[in-house]
Amino acid sequence: MNSIEACVFDAYGTLFDIASAVHDVLGDIDSDMAARVAADWRQKQLQYTWILSMTGQYEDFWSITCESLDWALENSRIHDAAQRERILELYLNIRSYPEVSDLLAALDGHPSRSAILSNGNRNMLAAALDATGITGRIDDVFSVEAIRVFKPDHRVYAMVTDDYALAPDAVLFVSANGWDVAGAGSFGFRTVWINRHNEPVDRLPHRPDTVMSDLNGIADILNAS
Ligand code: LAC
Repeated sequence: MNSIEACVFDAYGTLFDIASAVHDVLGDIDSDMAARVAADWRQKQLQYTWILSMTGQYEDFWSITCESLDWALENSRIHDAAQRERILELYLNIRSYPEVSDLLAALDGHPSRSAILSNGNRNMLAAALDATGITGRIDDVFSVEAIRVFKPDHRVYAMVTDDYALAPDAVLFVSANGWDVAGAGSFGFRTVWINRHNEPVDRLPHRPDTVMSDLNGIADILNAS
């Protein structure tokens, strides 16, 4: 097996805290309702990406993010335009998970390349990287906007191996999304599933090589390779 030459991260849910925007705006009003909106929003956002890709269509991820939020808010009978705008503004200027700063320090000291590979379009990712202080601290950002198809289509994962001229098993792919890990594993990446919510593993082929509850163990994997 090749040694790890690149460490590649999913963005939303892995580095960026996707639930915080909804909880910041709706959490004080009704925390159960906020949790439902956040879960509905994420589920619809992902479903839309899969359905568009399967039917050969593409909409940018920001449009999908807005439309899936509208579905989630309507499903919870929320019709407040100011709350909607505030949630979207917070999502654009998203927070990272607390352990990301230690992760960035570990990546700084490691010779492998580091990258983000995300469904997010370039503007969204640029805003998120600025808001989280990651700009300039990761070598490359790969957005599906360049190829107009979403994960887990193999063409997405191939953006990394094509650009870096690496075999898939020289790439360590890190994602908190079980389906993304399964897609990356079927492409041939080595995979780490960040199981933040203590969920069961997805019943899909290509189960994760490694499971962790947060990003803190990534440095050890890189240092051992
Ligand atoms: C991404 C989504 C899947 O950043 O979280 O690609």
